Amino acid sequence: MADTQVLQNVLRDEQRLPRVPEPGVMVIFGASGDLTARKLVPALYDLAAQRRLPLEFAVVGVSRTEMSHEEFREKLHKSLEEHRSGKVSDDVWESFSKGIFYLAGDSKEPKAYDELKEFLRKLDSERGTQGNRAFYLSTSPSLVPAIVQRLGEAGMNNGEEGGWSRLVVEKPFGRDLESAQELNEEIRRYFDESQIYRIDHYLGKETVQNILALRFANGIFEPIWNQHYVDHVQITVAEDIGVGTRGAFYEEAGALRDIVQNHVMQILCLTAMEPPVAFDADSLREEKVKVLKAVRRIPEDDVEHYAVRGQYERGWVWGEEVEGYREGKDVASDSVTETFVALKVFVDNWRWAGVPFYIRAGKRMPKKATEIAIQFRPTPHTPFAHGDTQGLDPNVLVVRVQPEEGISLKIGAKVPGQGFEVSSVNMDLLYGTAFLEEAPDAYQRLLLDLMLGDPTLFIRADEAEGAWDILAPVMQAWSEKKEVSMYPAGEWGPEDADDLLEYDGREWRRP
Ligand SMILES: NC(=O)c1ccc[n+]([C@@H]2O[C@H](COP(=O)([O-])OP(=O)(O)OC[C@H]3O[C@@H](n4cnc5c(N)ncnc54)[C@H](OP(=O)(O)O)[C@@H]3O)[C@@H](O)[C@H]2O)c1
Repeated sequence: MADTQVLQNVLRDEQRLPRVPEPGVMVIFGASGDLTARKLVPALYDLAAQRRLPLEFAVVGVSRTEMSHEEFREKLHKSLEEHRSGKVSDDVWESFSKGIFYLAGDSKEPKAYDELKEFLRKLDSERGTQGNRAFYLSTSPSLVPAIVQRLGEAGMNNGEEGGWSRLVVEKPFGRDLESAQELNEEIRRYFDESQIYRIDHYLGKETVQNILALRFANGIFEPIWNQHYVDHVQITVAEDIGVGTRGAFYEEAGALRDIVQNHVMQILCLTAMEPPVAFDADSLREEKVKVLKAVRRIPEDDVEHYAVRGQYERGWVWGEEVEGYREGKDVASDSVTETFVALKVFVDNWRWAGVPFYIRAGKRMPKKATEIAIQFRPTPHTPFAHGDTQGLDPNVLVVRVQPEEGISLKIGAKVPGQGFEVSSVNMDLLYGTAFLEEAPDAYQRLLLDLMLGDPTLFIRADEAEGAWDILAPVMQAWSEKKEVSMYPAGEWGPEDADDLLEYDGREWRRP
């Protein structure tokens, strides 16, 4: 074999090898909290089990609760057993947990950072973490500016001795356009945009990334992915659960801020964007921002024709009677916080002119379902007898993000028999059966990308701001009008949501 061929084969094999990050430390602020126990540490454990982490890797948890390193490890081990399916391997845990440490301290106090800095230096020399640090802010959003400032003042916005320093900011990123802009400004006083990783775990989901694969790895969809062939698009993010014990949090958030500004806007971008020139952070994010810019702003004095605000009341879900939102703990008895949102938006560009994107996100829906449905225009003419096409619907391509991740295409087919009755059937692909490998959890993917320094699946500042800008008129109108449309738990939202589509001669899908 020629030398160049050998070299090419070696390079190709190297590219196929799993990427392992450089040595480094992940510092988690908010280490005693829910996200750390339920998502972050299980994801890191799984990465360790797959040998995706370097040996010179450490986790340092920071929060106010007093705990020793050992108590912190025990707490995490317990939650791993609770939250992770599958047995926790003693061997993996033993080696992984040796790299887990805990520092008790108030993240508002400069003193905590002196201690942290010293401790990280010690880890550099004892565990070989080489001055590389990722700071994961898993605390309430109100603490973010203080932590960023303290990190900057302590000089930790740069890695030690030539190492890198990265900052992860959890959602919600601000609570409106102004606060997101302020937050971006405050963070940029100490960290460069290339160091900032705004996380939206939806982007770490395999099926969300699959929207890109479906669109840009297949020649057959792209030619019809436009206003010539698409009648409309429906994006649904439905949960069957209610707010539970998180009433205080939800009263402040609501579905628009909690789900639509981040997850739904990201799905909208991936569905509507132009093909990026390459699969890298700048190319991909550039195209997403173009979509956000092209979304037509909803007129503030006409919000009710584009947006529906709903809230669940007592009803039945999966055969069980459940309480209404206002009956929940820490929720005002006259609360107008939305547990359901429906929106109609237009992407005013060459590809999508005139195609409505209907969006709905809600709690206490009949089932948990996240999906994107591309409904195509009907055929211009059917040669079959009218009575034979009663069961025929237009083609719909559905990307199911969760659960039962997969893709289905609704097509017309002949019903077996003597006549020529045609009806709609689904061609269904279940990812679980197509690929034998189990899809990694979203946080696994994102934490690995973070340690590798790949921000492709994280949100850039202008994306976060663009998404808030789109929702600004709706938030403004809702803050002035203290009204909400009620729907019984276990229904697909209030009647107004149906009217939104009926007005256009369309109807919501029932996933
Ligand atoms: N939980 C989820 O599933 C989820 C999902 C998506 C996004 N998020 C986001 O992730 C972040 C964390 O959420 P979470 O659910 O884990 O919240 P959480 O359970 O309330 O945890 C907050 C953490 O912050 C610590 N903390 C509070 N004040 C502190 C201070 N002054 N100094 C140091 N530590 C302090 C708390 O510990 P001490 O009381 O011990 O200090 C606790 O560890 C939030 O921004 C949330 O919006 C969470």
